[in-house]
Amino acid sequence: MTVTTIELTFSDREVVSFIADRSMSLMEAAAKNGVRLASDCLSGTCQTCKCEMASGKIAYEDEHEIALDDGERAAGAILPCQAKPLSDVIRLSMPYTRISQLPRRSRKLVITAIRRVSDSVFEVAGKCHGGRMFAFLPGQYVNLSVPGTDAVRSYSMMTPPEQEEVGFLIRALPNGAMSTYLSASAKAGDVLSITGPFGTFYRRRETGTCIMVAGGTGLAPMLSMLRERARRRDTDGPVVIAFGVNTDRDLFYRNELEALKAIFPGLRVLVAAMSHGDDWQDATGTAVDLVTSDLIGPPPTATAYLCGPPAMVEGARRKLLDMGMSREQIFAEEFQPTGAN
Ligand SMILES: Cc1cc2nc3c(=O)[nH]c(=O)nc-3n(C[C@H](O)[C@H](O)[C@H](O)COP(=O)(O)OP(=O)(O)OC[C@H]3O[C@@H](n4cnc5c(N)ncnc54)[C@H](O)[C@@H]3O)c2cc1C
Ligand code: FES
Repeated sequence: MTVTTIELTFSDREVVSFIADRSMSLMEAAAKNGVRLASDCLSGTCQTCKCEMASGKIAYEDEHEIALDDGERAAGAILPCQAKPLSDVIRLSMPYTRISQLPRRSRKLVITAIRRVSDSVFEVAGKCHGGRMFAFLPGQYVNLSVPGTDAVRSYSMMTPPEQEEVGFLIRALPNGAMSTYLSASAKAGDVLSITGPFGTFYRRRETGTCIMVAGGTGLAPMLSMLRERARRRDTDGPVVIAFGVNTDRDLFYRNELEALKAIFPGLRVLVAAMSHGDDWQDATGTAVDLVTSDLIGPPPTATAYLCGPPAMVEGARRKLLDMGMSREQIFAEEFQPTGAN
């Protein structure tokens, strides 16, 4: 048996090392050694396990199945659920703490309310059968089954943890499995399977301004983080929400965001739509267009959270890096289509 020494450095600088059999994926080897890594699909498509290889060599069984673009590969990103070791030593930098990997649970979720909050967005609330929602970190996501089908889709909570009712913001897409269910037949009392929590997008200890860049329903995890902060009375410090929608008819939660200013005295809310009518009072463009250097301010100590369509997240990340922020200060969740699940 040929072996490799794997060394993991978590974001709080905790270092864990173990010996791995080279026939196993890095994820399997970690699990065998009692180390829980972030994961979801285990097939190289969701990017939930993404981390950075500081040194070493790996190989994938099927390169074509790996959802990493050239830029991500060049920056050292790998997917440990599919990567097998090739060198004697591999050093990985994990973008989360070990403690953030909460145990995964499955429950039945009973829908308590469904409301259309714009032309394209549903607000869905539910309660877990027989008690509380399982533990999660504000910003994380779960997988929900689509009733009457075999489909499973990922959604970020908009509510904070430790609350009986859990809420989601779900974008309606033409012919989408979840979208069709919500538009055509969903009603209070329906039961869905809910599994989670997943993801490494969760609230960190912010330094400087907290910048939240959200596209459409990408607002959900930001609300979960802010509501958690409000619950803990951690409401000081500057916060900027840059929120973009496709058209003015897609805008939702304008009033809810304004109301948050009463809780967060340092909150600025910036809204943009790519197209709109003549009476539109806010900016024209995308959430990325709202990100300007005066939001960060010198020296660049801000913490940024980005969430929404992959192109928006990538655009915002590039802009913030160009403005002098470091990769370590930027946390992101891309709403990749989950239809392949
Ligand atoms: C980690 C994570 C968290 C997510 N959280 C949320 C969330 O909180 N709220 C939310 O609304 N969505 C979220 N998504 C996206 C969500 O999981 C589904 O992909 C989305 O709701 C579409 O599901 P559907 O069943 O309606 O459509 P599907 O049946 O999956 O797709 C129908 C058609 O639409 C296309 N399509 C799918 N997604 C998009 C898109 N974004 N833009 C254009 N075309 C698309 C598909 O290719 C397909 O042709 C998240 C995704 C990930 C990976
Ligand atoms: S768990 Fe590795 S890409 Fe999904």
